[in-house]
Amino acid sequence: MSRRPNTSRRFGDSVGIPFVGALHTKSRQSPLLSIGLVVVGALLILGYVYHGSGGGSGDIAALNRLDGGVSCTLELQTLIPILKKAYGESMRKVLHIGPETCSVVSQILKEDDTEAWGVEPYEMDDADANCKSLVRKGVVRVADIKFPLPYKPKSFSLVLVSDALDYLSPRYLNKTVPELARVSADGLVILSGYPGHKIAKGTELSKFGRPAKFRSSSWWIRFFIQTRLEENETAIKKFEQAAAKKAYRPACQIFHLKPLH
Ligand SMILES: *[C@@H]1O[C@H](CO)[C@@H](O)[C@H](O)[C@H]1NC(C)=O
Ligand SMILES: *[C@@H]1O[C@H](CO)[C@@H](O)[C@H](O)[C@H]1NC(C)=O
Repeated sequence: MSRRPNTSRRFGDSVGIPFVGALHTKSRQSPLLSIGLVVVGALLILGYVYHGSGGGSGDIAALNRLDGGVSCTLELQTLIPILKKAYGESMRKVLHIGPETCSVVSQILKEDDTEAWGVEPYEMDDADANCKSLVRKGVVRVADIKFPLPYKPKSFSLVLVSDALDYLSPRYLNKTVPELARVSADGLVILSGYPGHKIAKGTELSKFGRPAKFRSSSWWIRFFIQTRLEENETAIKKFEQAAAKKAYRPACQIFHLKPLH
């Protein structure tokens, strides 16, 4: 007990004296200065790391790019807050279609007032305990999206699809994309790779049956016209505004379509 006031006084003194000394002697100034620089540097690094992690999603984006390839499903996870700004109420009942759907669904479920379901278009060989539990509860299912989905029209407010359509030939896309627009009440968001896009490690060919074909945005726009799907200009504008606010530059093509009824 009796040592505490002493220690604090000594600490107070030792802070005061070097500062005074620093004004007079150069030899003392430089260590203090370098300690100061180290502290400032550490704070900057901490700030950078903290900012970069953006609540656990930014580190996914960083990993995504470090890997040398781009996964639109990982990108979608970083986009959830921006989609929420663009779609608001329409995010209340979401269906995600794409590989790693368990992680997308789990992330959407963390948001307030949202329900989410997932369709894994390819077999799940490395499902973790959380994923197995989502499958058991019927929240996530494995289904071939070349065939009609077992849902009534407008079953979901918003349908999100990532890294799934790139593996379908136009013959199947013709049926699958309108089918996704059918089960949605407010919209369909498609994330697709850019031409020349490198596939992220782990999404190896064998799993998908055929190589990914990344189509240009003009190809997609023509496809939407052919299949009578319209882009939702309001959603595009709101999404771009929300993305600009976060200085977010997408690594995948993102299309916002109106539902088809
Ligand atoms: C897809 O549908 C469009 C419009 O209905 C048609 O013009 C096109 O030939 C179809 N493509 C294939 C590969 O079936
Ligand atoms: C367009 O998107 C907005 C969300 O930004 C949504 O509220 C609206 O229902 C959509 N409109 C149509 C016609 O799908």
